[in-house]
Amino acid sequence: MSELQVMSEIAVEDATEVDFSVLKRLNAAWPKRSTLASDIGRLHTDDEFFDPSVPDYPEHFLPFANHPSWIDAGAEQRQKVLTAAWLVYNQRVITAEEEVANPTFQRIAHGTLFGLSGAALREAAQQAHVDETWHTYMHILAMRKTGELRGMDTMPTYPDAVTYRRLVEARAASSGEDENEILDFAWTVVSEISINAYLELLSNDQDIQPYHSLVTRLHARDESAHGAVLIEIAKAAYGAMSEQQRRWFVTALPRALRAFAETDYSVWPIVLSHAGFEDADAIVAEMKNYPGNELLVRDFSGLTRLGRALHIEIEFPE
Ligand SMILES: [Fe+2]
Ligand SMILES: [Fe+2]
Repeated sequence: MSELQVMSEIAVEDATEVDFSVLKRLNAAWPKRSTLASDIGRLHTDDEFFDPSVPDYPEHFLPFANHPSWIDAGAEQRQKVLTAAWLVYNQRVITAEEEVANPTFQRIAHGTLFGLSGAALREAAQQAHVDETWHTYMHILAMRKTGELRGMDTMPTYPDAVTYRRLVEARAASSGEDENEILDFAWTVVSEISINAYLELLSNDQDIQPYHSLVTRLHARDESAHGAVLIEIAKAAYGAMSEQQRRWFVTALPRALRAFAETDYSVWPIVLSHAGFEDADAIVAEMKNYPGNELLVRDFSGLTRLGRALHIEIEFPE
């Protein structure tokens, strides 16, 4: 039996103290605190759009930013790549919400996951579900405005976001539907607790389109609340799980975290060749060897909080 398994078994009693006051406070504040209620008008203005010379995405997050082919590229090619990077970034957010988080929120709101039926939990999940639908709308709006600004008619087809691909792979290799339910839940918990680390890559950036940082900043505000909600939901769920389910869950968390944080190597050859880089495959092959390229997200403070709340050790990716 692994150390993690032992820890999950001895810690359950302490770990399941759900703080309903946190949920009730967040639920009561939602009509005012949600960006859907307070900021819908800000996104429907063109005031913060657009100086075409301002990039769509921070160059330093491109894993090939130091590659000679990138350094030597012309302004138009670089702009095309940065615009595509921003669109891919948005798509990764949308996939996390639509494919990972929302199905779980729906089940909790309906009271059909792990027997979680408390009114405060269900209301919090329902509010978060509404927020996520709004976030998807925000990011789609940002993508459409970007496409108009850049005069883009066609986009290549990209693979599904890596976070979701890894979930599909884990489900395919699992022991069956019982374990898949835990995998889906673990991916939701990790995504919801970690998404601010992803959004904050852009939310305070002064050098990209102001509209892009605004969208990510507004989104991050809602996710601060979701992170707190998910800690309580995870505590309640963990307490309701069987020993087997807890073992699956504790094993799934670091896998979900790596999937959430990792660089998506499959998308960059498509981005680069669409922008006219003839050596796209070679650039991507070389960049895999650059130190520090493996992870796009490196802030694991959310999962540290979760580990503390559940009294478990979570192994972080390196
Ligand atoms: Fe969201
Ligand atoms: Fe969320």
